Amino acid sequence: MYRTKNCGELRMQHVGEEVTLAGWVQTVRKFGSITFTDLRDRYGITQLYFNEQLNCQLDATPIGREFVIQAVGKVVERTSKNNKIPTGDIEVEITSFKILNASAVPPFTIEENTDGGDELRMKYRYLDLRRPTLRRNLELRYKVNRSVRNYLDTLGFWDIETPFLIKSTPEGARDFVVPSRMNQGQFYALPQSPQTFKQLLMVSGYDRYYQVVKCFRDEDLRADRQPEFTQVDCEMAFVEQEDILNTFEGLFKHVFKDVKGVEMTEAFPRMTFDDAMWHYGNDKPDIRFEMKIQNLKSLGKVYCETVGSGSFKVFDDAETIVAISVPGGSEYTRKQIDELTEWVKRPQIGMSGVVNIKCNTDGTFKSSIDKFFTADQLESIAEYCQATTGHIILILAGAETRTRKAMSELRLEMGNRLGFRDHSIYKPLWVIDFPLFELDEEANRWVARHHPFTAPKPDHIELMNDLSRYGEIKANAYDIVLNGTEIGGGSIRIFQRDLQEKMFAALGMSKEEAQEKFGFLMGAFEYGAPPHGGIAFGFDRLCALLGGQETIRDFIAFPKNNSGRDVMLDAPSAIDEAQMKELGLK
Ligand code: AMO
Repeated sequence: MYRTKNCGELRMQHVGEEVTLAGWVQTVRKFGSITFTDLRDRYGITQLYFNEQLNCQLDATPIGREFVIQAVGKVVERTSKNNKIPTGDIEVEITSFKILNASAVPPFTIEENTDGGDELRMKYRYLDLRRPTLRRNLELRYKVNRSVRNYLDTLGFWDIETPFLIKSTPEGARDFVVPSRMNQGQFYALPQSPQTFKQLLMVSGYDRYYQVVKCFRDEDLRADRQPEFTQVDCEMAFVEQEDILNTFEGLFKHVFKDVKGVEMTEAFPRMTFDDAMWHYGNDKPDIRFEMKIQNLKSLGKVYCETVGSGSFKVFDDAETIVAISVPGGSEYTRKQIDELTEWVKRPQIGMSGVVNIKCNTDGTFKSSIDKFFTADQLESIAEYCQATTGHIILILAGAETRTRKAMSELRLEMGNRLGFRDHSIYKPLWVIDFPLFELDEEANRWVARHHPFTAPKPDHIELMNDLSRYGEIKANAYDIVLNGTEIGGGSIRIFQRDLQEKMFAALGMSKEEAQEKFGFLMGAFEYGAPPHGGIAFGFDRLCALLGGQETIRDFIAFPKNNSGRDVMLDAPSAIDEAQMKELGLK
């Protein structure tokens, strides 16, 4: 046996025992003939004590950082205890040791907070993964996975694998494709999700399916996006929306209790998509704090009469005027306000400025638009915005979509600055009643908001005959949002061939094209497809949020960087001529 104990388990009760430990040397501290080293493994850190005076074989000089050693010794109580680590009461007085393998000097320190930059850590990911931070993240990920499986297993869900080499499944991103050697000139696509397969499994009668599964999407990367990521993908037959929301709210509560010890007793709040856009400016509201968006004018319709009084051109010309009322803001200095103005002018936000009204504690109002509005008028705007003394009202004006989006970002930014977005608070939310279609403004055509297999609300099917009313059609589609991040989404599906055909036609697909791409699914619908629906959770996102972070990369053992590269493998990379030829590629 290489070891009798691990580096995280020795306590006072083990004092006097002879043990053998094996692991990596984190630090070496030499004081004359005495050396202390910290030995690390997956379980923790234990201090080793080498005394050459007792035994000349115990010269620890050859040992360096990250060497793998095996050491035998006796557990003793430490004279100066370290209460920062669980094994801090003891140390192991070494009687013999063996270097199992030497290590080159690591390119960064392997400690909680390392000195390695992002690229370097990614290149040496196997070293980065030795750090306790990442180890804890991967442990959490494993526990979430186990917890999800336990819950679904109790409810009779079966884990059924589906293929990776498939024909494209539209989920709104580009496909990664794989050339076929046996069918030259033809390509498989990697699944953006197992969507059509899980629906086919419902047709086959496997009415409770799940999979913790890799999905592949060629899209621009962000903190919460990876080109290959994991979903907890689920589908149920003979269900309505309410059954799905209840089942998966249960899953959520179970995981939170199991993994975090957080008891969520209340039903999750639900908000319609329209309300989310109106009050928060996006479809994934962070409801850890209020600071709702006040709509003074929207799509040209004036809601707060004062802004429509014709005295200020910027307001008169704007399609939309929205505001938030920020507590404590009446104290902002000129410099702070200038800095906010710069913030909204950044290209990602894209506004030309921000109007402010300070609601001073003495009851007066001070505004950047004092010239255009009387004190009474400012007061009436403040009243409309439900601003109280000590607040500052921040107002953005411009085109509907851009202004609303900018305000949603500004709200989150102010929430951050005011410490309202506390990672230890969890506020889940169902967003429901999504639109079936959305307008792709660039291509000027309607696309599926979720995916083309999502069912319209039954009484909206009629509207699919009238192109001018596509924007009004709502779907039985829902997202689950946690602290402002979309962590899951799903829908009740279309399960009749004629409605599915109608949907493809609405998306501008010819009958032939629909048949060529999705004939397999529509064919299946002719053989007794049950009503069904489902949901998929972004597993990486869920883990990151449970770990109190928004970046999913450090919850994935071997992630890609922001340009979609694996810098450790140096992939993607060119392939040689022979391989190209074999695949029929030029
Ligand atoms: P959707 O496309 O909404 O739905 O994906 C489900 C969830 O997966 C997560 N997610 C991602 N996570 C990391 N990186 C990405 N690139 C990425 N893209 C999505 C999100 C998202 O909520 N087949 C449908 C589900 C269904 O209808 O049942 C689907 O894939 O958290």
